[in-house]
Amino acid sequence: MTQSDLKKFHIKSFGCQMNVYDGERMSELLVDQGMSAAKDGEEADLVVLNTCHIREKAVDKVYSDIGRLRRKDGTSPMIAVAGCVAQAEGKEISRRAPTVDIVVGPQAYHRLPELMEVAKSGKKALDTDMPAVSKFDALPSRGKQARPTAFLTVQEGCDKFCTYCVVPYTRGAEISRPWTDLVDEAKALVDGGACEITLLGQNVNAWSGADDKGQQQGLDGLIRALDRIPGLKRIRYMTSHPNDMTDGLIAAHGDLATLMPFLHLPVQSGSDRMLKAMNRSHSARSYLDILDKMRKVRPDIALSGDFIVGFPGETDQDFEETLEIVRAANYSQAFSFKYSPRPGTPAAGMDEQIAPEVMDERLQRLQALLNEQQYAFNQQTVGRTTDILLERKGKLDGQLIGKTPWLQSVHIISPDLEIGDLVEIDVTQAGPNSLTGQIRERLAA
Ligand code: 5AD
Ligand code: SF4
Repeated sequence: MTQSDLKKFHIKSFGCQMNVYDGERMSELLVDQGMSAAKDGEEADLVVLNTCHIREKAVDKVYSDIGRLRRKDGTSPMIAVAGCVAQAEGKEISRRAPTVDIVVGPQAYHRLPELMEVAKSGKKALDTDMPAVSKFDALPSRGKQARPTAFLTVQEGCDKFCTYCVVPYTRGAEISRPWTDLVDEAKALVDGGACEITLLGQNVNAWSGADDKGQQQGLDGLIRALDRIPGLKRIRYMTSHPNDMTDGLIAAHGDLATLMPFLHLPVQSGSDRMLKAMNRSHSARSYLDILDKMRKVRPDIALSGDFIVGFPGETDQDFEETLEIVRAANYSQAFSFKYSPRPGTPAAGMDEQIAPEVMDERLQRLQALLNEQQYAFNQQTVGRTTDILLERKGKLDGQLIGKTPWLQSVHIISPDLEIGDLVEIDVTQAGPNSLTGQIRERLAA
């Protein structure tokens, strides 16, 4: 086989938005090699499963997906497992799933073309190195964007070592991409048609680096530089850690119209005892103090978070404190999970693992409260005038779906508008998960 025998590829990304970004970069890399995107796995010569290792279910899903790639005639496409499961399980994957040809970690996917060559000769190809030279330097530059919203990974890895989390092991130590690379990539995304950019990182607000004048900057400095790019209308960032939430970043929310009033700031638990056992290095009070400061400069900020229920040793009282912090913080949306022991993490070996039925019950109660808050937040927007960025078509004729500054989805009917338009609407109705609106005027093409 030669490189040209592999014509079509399909990439399936699981898990966080950083994987979505990596999936897009892999796709651009394969297009650069002369391949094209298949419409699904069935018609692809190469399938890349870009995996997530954060919870057990995510891992199980990878193995069942690999099984499903076998075709009726007994053949399979070339299969590459990328992402955090690849990094964590390495060779074990080819042992459990012999149809897998390539295993490539999140720091090595720029080497995909070479690994495909190895796989074509019938050998298993594995690369889970975390090389000193950044993969970003080896990837093709950004071109035309398929959507008006783009992701930009600014920071990768994590040095926080929360005791439940695999990220410090699968994504490695915290690194910040250089200022100039990021400003250039943001400009290329805008030139390619993006008008909203979400800056990504496992600890995005830990980003730091020297600017073009050699001055040390934090994420707020970078955001202020991106704010000056003509044509970039909206900036978002996620996920933040409470300990890196600087006064400068909070102030930027008060100053910059392009910086959207939305903050994803996980707290995980409302119990200081649990936060300590999780090695979170912040308290429930210090988290709420950050929100107070933020709401002083940006009273309408929409808050999102992550929660874990059933961490080892969590008592009813600890869980009640989680409900209390949710009531005090007031979320517009949130993600909540049952604790899942991850191999190699300190918490997996802790005593007092919590029974599954206790976790189920706690998760249900937490989610009921979070859903109530989300619905109330949506209802508060009814009657308001706001701008939305149209991101995709809806199911109905002439229907488009856009996002408010607070990241709520809004359905509108307007046959003359297009994806990428920023339009002013009145919010007319709210449901638990989305809003309905009516057009006022078009703000910018
Ligand atoms: N079990 C359950 N949830 C977890 N998360 C991370 N690790 C685990 C785990 N072992 C959750 C955290 C984190 C989000 C991305 O996933 O809430 O913020
Ligand atoms: Fe995982 Fe904690 Fe790092 Fe977030 S801060 S990636 S939860 S170790």
